Amino acid sequence: MRQAELADELLATVVAAAGLDAPDSREGWEWRLQCAVPWPVADGYRQRRDACKDAAKSPDNVARVAATEDEFFAFAGAHPDLCRLFAAGRLGYYDAVLPKVAARLRRGPHARILDLGSFAGVSTMYLGLAFPDSRVVGVERHPGAVAAAEEARARSGLDNVSFACADYTAFDDGAFDAVVSLQAMPAYLLPWLPAERPEDYARGAHLEAALGAPAAPVQAVVRAVAAVRRLASAGGHAVLHERVSGLPRALLFQHILARAGLAVTDRCWAGWHSLSQRDVLQSFPLVVAIADAGPVPSDEAAMTTLYALPGGPDLTGLPPAHGVTYSGFQAHATFAALPEPRDELCLRAGLPDGRRLHGYFGIAGGCWAYVYRCDTHDERMMTVGDRGIAPALFRASLDELGRLTAAGQLPQCDPPLDKFRYHVGKRFKT
Ligand SMILES: C[S@@+](CC[C@H](N)C(=O)[O-])C[C@H]1O[C@@H](n2cnc3c(N)ncnc32)[C@H](O)[C@@H]1O
Repeated sequence: MRQAELADELLATVVAAAGLDAPDSREGWEWRLQCAVPWPVADGYRQRRDACKDAAKSPDNVARVAATEDEFFAFAGAHPDLCRLFAAGRLGYYDAVLPKVAARLRRGPHARILDLGSFAGVSTMYLGLAFPDSRVVGVERHPGAVAAAEEARARSGLDNVSFACADYTAFDDGAFDAVVSLQAMPAYLLPWLPAERPEDYARGAHLEAALGAPAAPVQAVVRAVAAVRRLASAGGHAVLHERVSGLPRALLFQHILARAGLAVTDRCWAGWHSLSQRDVLQSFPLVVAIADAGPVPSDEAAMTTLYALPGGPDLTGLPPAHGVTYSGFQAHATFAALPEPRDELCLRAGLPDGRRLHGYFGIAGGCWAYVYRCDTHDERMMTVGDRGIAPALFRASLDELGRLTAAGQLPQCDPPLDKFRYHVGKRFKT
């Protein structure tokens, strides 16, 4: 993909003001790196970039990922040319994602917008241009990057944009109507299975650096999300585009959002071609959440629920496209952990041996479809997946209930199965 051709006019304006030059290929970008900075700096950049990739992939160093990445940004931010080059390398990302972010924020009005981890300030200036009546603040912890962003802002003449050099988890500048985070949270540290403890999960098999605090990776995410909730005014919006791949991790991330008092109202996929990985389409959900008026929970409260989940989910059931199936206590815990708001229908039935069966069909948090079955002998089964699986999931579950009814194993359905099927179709438009 030729990143030099920016589709978005607002972005092109910001790029020109910031003195950025969109590279048209990986090679072109590398060539500029070669020419723009002295060899030791370019070499230091490459080493740190490779270290980040290794740390992210390696099965045994989850504990080091965040520190390695932080070192990378400190290094890149300290060299103005590197800082600009890094931002230029992300123009394909901005082109694909920023219009979607702005479209969600247009539901405003937002007098004050906060851009977390703003690095060279491209996204912050974009939002300043898109929302001339709003004040937009970018917060970034590396002083070099803040200086580069401030310089670009001065050149752009945007007077509704400012930058602060701070760790956003400790940042305090009053409440914002909207808080935006574009890959500024360590969400990639989350375990791949909701019920895993970090010291058990495969990527963290050797958490040397975290031995004293095995929950540290997840806690880092909890802290970042808690900061979003703290910095957003009650009823304000959070727009997050983070690297959370895989439904169980997304479910976990969403669970952390819910525990922090952020109710997801909208979710869409935002994908882009990565310049660093030649034509690889990367795609992660863009999550829009609303900060409700509830209390901001402590980190501990969020963690307690997270680790109330023992063992891992049963992934041997339906393939991921059809959701993940949990049984036993995990099923119950996952059901309990589903985010609000929940739209749900319940079927009750008596079983021939006297047990009572409850079946819940629902959509949680606006984006997860689930079916949860439990009976009075504590047998539980829970399948959960993206909202898109609702028709297939609900149909398969209803068909199974139909088979049980036909075999005389499900007497006394309340409501009668046909009626329940009708309600499910009507409520969830399946
Ligand atoms: C992957 S970059 C994304 C930069 C920018 N949001 C963008 O989309 O181009 C992550 C940035 O977040 C910053 N960051 C991460 N955690 C932070 C924190 N706790 N406080 C301030 N900045 C942070 C990093 O320094 C880095 O500049």
